[in-house]
Amino acid sequence: MCGITGYLGDGNCSKIVAQSLKNLEYRGYDSAGVALLDGSLHVHKQSGQIDDLTVPSIPDATCGIGHTRWSTHGAPTDENAHPHTDCENEVAIVHNGIIDNYETLKRDLIGDHVFTSETDSEVVAHLIEDELDKTEYLLDAVEAVVAMLEGSFAIAVTAAGHDGIVVARQDSPLVIGHADDATFIGSDVTAFVDHTRTVSFLEDGDIAHITESGHTIVNGGTIVERERRVIDWDADAAEKGGYEHYMRKEIHEQPQAVRQALSGRVDEVAGVVDLDLSLSEEYCRSLDEIQIIACGTSYYAGLYAAELLERYADVRVSVSIASEYEFRENRDPWRTLVVAVTQSGETADTLRALRKGAGAGVRTLAVTNTVGSTMAREADDALYIRSGPEIGVAATKTFASQVTTLTLLTVYLGRQRNALSSNEASTILNAVSEVPGAIQQVLDAESTVRQTAEEFADSDSFFFIGRQLGYPVALEGALKLKEISYDHAEGFAGGELKHGPLALVTENTPVLAILTEGTNAAETLHNVKEVESRGAPTIGLTSDPDPNAVFDISFQVPDVGLMEPVVANVYLQLFAYHVANQKGRSIDKPRNLAKSVTVE
Ligand code: F6R
Repeated sequence: MCGITGYLGDGNCSKIVAQSLKNLEYRGYDSAGVALLDGSLHVHKQSGQIDDLTVPSIPDATCGIGHTRWSTHGAPTDENAHPHTDCENEVAIVHNGIIDNYETLKRDLIGDHVFTSETDSEVVAHLIEDELDKTEYLLDAVEAVVAMLEGSFAIAVTAAGHDGIVVARQDSPLVIGHADDATFIGSDVTAFVDHTRTVSFLEDGDIAHITESGHTIVNGGTIVERERRVIDWDADAAEKGGYEHYMRKEIHEQPQAVRQALSGRVDEVAGVVDLDLSLSEEYCRSLDEIQIIACGTSYYAGLYAAELLERYADVRVSVSIASEYEFRENRDPWRTLVVAVTQSGETADTLRALRKGAGAGVRTLAVTNTVGSTMAREADDALYIRSGPEIGVAATKTFASQVTTLTLLTVYLGRQRNALSSNEASTILNAVSEVPGAIQQVLDAESTVRQTAEEFADSDSFFFIGRQLGYPVALEGALKLKEISYDHAEGFAGGELKHGPLALVTENTPVLAILTEGTNAAETLHNVKEVESRGAPTIGLTSDPDPNAVFDISFQVPDVGLMEPVVANVYLQLFAYHVANQKGRSIDKPRNLAKSVTVE
């Protein structure tokens, strides 16, 4: 996720802003930049490492903003790096999040303004430029512009001839740091934790003007106060947002990650999805087969998507573990689409499979988190899942974002192929848009998951069962547990238990079962009975209103239709996390594993 920093005070502004960019490095980035104000504006930005960014010494600068960028709109280039400026280089802005309606806003501006980047963010600088023709107050100008923006954003603005920094928050965090002789801003406290731990967290709708004489916060036109709190985090805890591990932080980031995957792509009422792909309607209609290639967690997201694609886009789908993929000669390359699902965009097995498909003349699509990655560049099209960087080795939020994005692809293809009516598409899109709230409900129940995890942490082995959409989630639940706790865990299709695995079931093998919408819960219930009668403790993830009758322990999954299994998966992530934590495992860096597997 991008990082924002800002400083206003009598200290060495250039040095302080440069250092705070270093503090934000942990979030992952592909370019960085600063804007320093000493009456006039000095902007320096470039792609690549912060160490290579020359932040000039501007002795009289009293105020500055900085940004680390993780690309979402446009490649990681110098031009796309933040800060962005207006036509006169007098307004500088940095932005986190996604401006959903930037294309419409840009169309209206383009005759009178010169754009230098491909980003959604740059519109903000030009809109402020226009507003400053109407008002002399930077705060008023930003307030007017924020009212035009749709989407999620944290913005910081500074402008020549104006005092201080104006910041605005909507669905993307921003925090003010208060020191005796200076005020800081940050997308998180890491930006300035080496200077102060007294902070005020801004709330959605807040717009704050920070000047030498203090700061004013307005929300909906009214002046508001935000409580000052003293946090006791050290730099390491601050990087993890106060969580002990990145993995837990990333589990908790899922509502926001899913929101970002949806942002600007969905019209729920009309049942329309816009993914900015170059697949023509004719090509989509003529498609005969989709071949999904992926590894690990991404493979399970692919299995989930295959169910949806076959059902709603009426297209044949095969899902291959990338290292097993061969393009079969008897397929028609012109009517086949290879979809590589890959968080990193660099996994060697998936890349090799993608090249095999491309080599056979097949169109390719990379569904990835990483703009500018090898697969994003090599595939004919790239579809970004927009999770923001994932630092924990175990994939968590990216699974939710992959499934969300692939669900949008399903609706897109279903509509193009006339396999899905607009009403059916609306129903799916409504369910998807409820996922962030549903995940939040699961996260709010974390303490009960922890208790259960601690109760069962010493079991011999763990089984996960599910059918249909519950099956990939069972596989993913088992993978998560085994990779971070080092316990034996296996996922099965419910119906397969009786074909062998039942022999392993004892009173010391808890069975976690997914029984939600889209999982053939009635049949899975038979499998729950099978293991129960062999003495296994059962833990149910269910949207059934009266689950206690069936399971030893149950977790309620909010009602979000076919997205329920991906929401249920959040319980499994928390379960794995707390089992591993109880055992003191190296959760963010499990033994023998790497985040990006670039060897075959
Ligand atoms: C598991 C995990 C791995 C990756 C796999 C593919 O938690 O992270 O199984 O999912 O290595 O990586 P990507 O998605 O980067 O291709």
